[in-house]
Amino acid sequence: MSKTMKRILVTGATGQIGSELTIELRKRYGGDTVVAAGHRRKPSEKLFSSGPFEYVDVTQKGEVEKVVEKYDIDTIYHLAAVLSAVGEKNPQLAWHVNMNGLYNVLEVAREHSMVRVFWPSSIAVFGPEAPRINTPQDTVLIPRTMYGVTKVAGELLCNYYFLRLGLDVRSVRYPGIISSETPPGGGTTDYAVEIFYEAIKKKRYTCFVRGDTVLPMMYMPDCIKAAIDLMEADLSRIKCRTSYNVTGMSFSVGELVAEIKKYIPEFECEYMPDFRQKIADSWPMSIDDSVAREEWSWKPTHDLVAMTKDMIEKLTKRFAKGSL
Ligand code: SER
Repeated sequence: MSKTMKRILVTGATGQIGSELTIELRKRYGGDTVVAAGHRRKPSEKLFSSGPFEYVDVTQKGEVEKVVEKYDIDTIYHLAAVLSAVGEKNPQLAWHVNMNGLYNVLEVAREHSMVRVFWPSSIAVFGPEAPRINTPQDTVLIPRTMYGVTKVAGELLCNYYFLRLGLDVRSVRYPGIISSETPPGGGTTDYAVEIFYEAIKKKRYTCFVRGDTVLPMMYMPDCIKAAIDLMEADLSRIKCRTSYNVTGMSFSVGELVAEIKKYIPEFECEYMPDFRQKIADSWPMSIDDSVAREEWSWKPTHDLVAMTKDMIEKLTKRFAKGSL
């Protein structure tokens, strides 16, 4: 981290990515340096006791401004968002939170001459017109979900703030994120996390997409690595200011089930596709992230085998302690 970076704000810090990214940032840069901001969910004990925590509604510019001034923030990881499945149930809310939240953060960052902003985009920017296998970074973006619409618009907004207003905003398009600490809420790729919890607790899972559904995914250590690597990369290396494709692995639900059965042979998965199948079918099956690999040396560390082993180990321990 450069000397000028002094205080980091993480919005959406109680969410799936935020809860683990905040802890990692605190480990690296010091607990008091990283302010965690949540809105609805209560912070975990770990998040609450390891550094400052504030309640911030990102749709209220004044609330963002207040926390930025209180802690003299100069770097923001803006993660607060409504995900794809909830967004299809309430598109107005998705637009409100995702667009106004990002706009407020960018405006406050510009007004306070911030050093850097990180904002995650998603594979949801792609629609059926884009190639579904090895989807390239630069291709047609016609998403079918409101979540995807907000991510495309958000990418364009970030690009504008960089080109026109000189704000150093950086972004990656995350695939589905798999993690063992905080469950995701309201996404289409949530099945790839739920399946582990249910396999360990009940040895059964009813999946809301078909077994042959293939989507790009990433394990949490790589998700955190992508954000921090990108934020620490030298300015001259970051050529793309919309968002970089990144990925960790791609698998069908059937392949994931087979991998889990290596540890829990009696595990059974049933399939009852719902409205989320259509969303999954409109997204890429695999991602070409060669531009990120070339420009800022992106390299994931976990594939399906390594991720499954780690998830099963971590969740089994928590189950044994009675905290799952
Ligand atoms: N995991 C997200 C979702 O399913 C994709 O960005 O909504």
